[in-house]
Amino acid sequence: MLDKKVIELLNDQINKEFYSAYLYLDIANYYTKNDLDGFANWYTIQAQEERDHALLFLKYLQINSIPVELKAIDKPDKTFSNHLDPLLAGAEHERYVTSLIHNIYDAAYSVKDFRTMQFLDWFVKEQMEEEENADKMVNKYKLFGDDPKSLYLLDQELAARVYTAPSLVL
Ligand code: FEO
Repeated sequence: MLDKKVIELLNDQINKEFYSAYLYLDIANYYTKNDLDGFANWYTIQAQEERDHALLFLKYLQINSIPVELKAIDKPDKTFSNHLDPLLAGAEHERYVTSLIHNIYDAAYSVKDFRTMQFLDWFVKEQMEEEENADKMVNKYKLFGDDPKSLYLLDQELAARVYTAPSLVL
């Protein structure tokens, strides 16, 4: 049986990951509306990854015979007034998610819950990649976004992203 606080945080993380998927779908919608289909593709795939993260937390609780409580997902409430805003929102959000993962890790560590710590190891590494990718999006846009031809090529590059299932299998 897992610790009550750890269970609560793991259960909450299901909701947070689904919210991340919602936020990225909202960002994809912004870019679709603005005819940047490559950016929209990149964030649609990002939303699929977040759904996968949510399902991993759900499955981990199920495997440990913990009842899962699905809660209401908040409406994404960011407003975007230019093409850079969604990228900045994405980068900021990933840092927030990193803090959530670290918080669960801290709770598991405090009760010597080695099983949950090992499960979370994948997410600790994943968050390093998520922050790196989000920062790259911001930096590339800052470098190329003001020039229409470069923006077109960047959009083409992002259109090539394809979905891959998470490497973590439970
Ligand atoms: Fe589920 Fe983007 O971290």
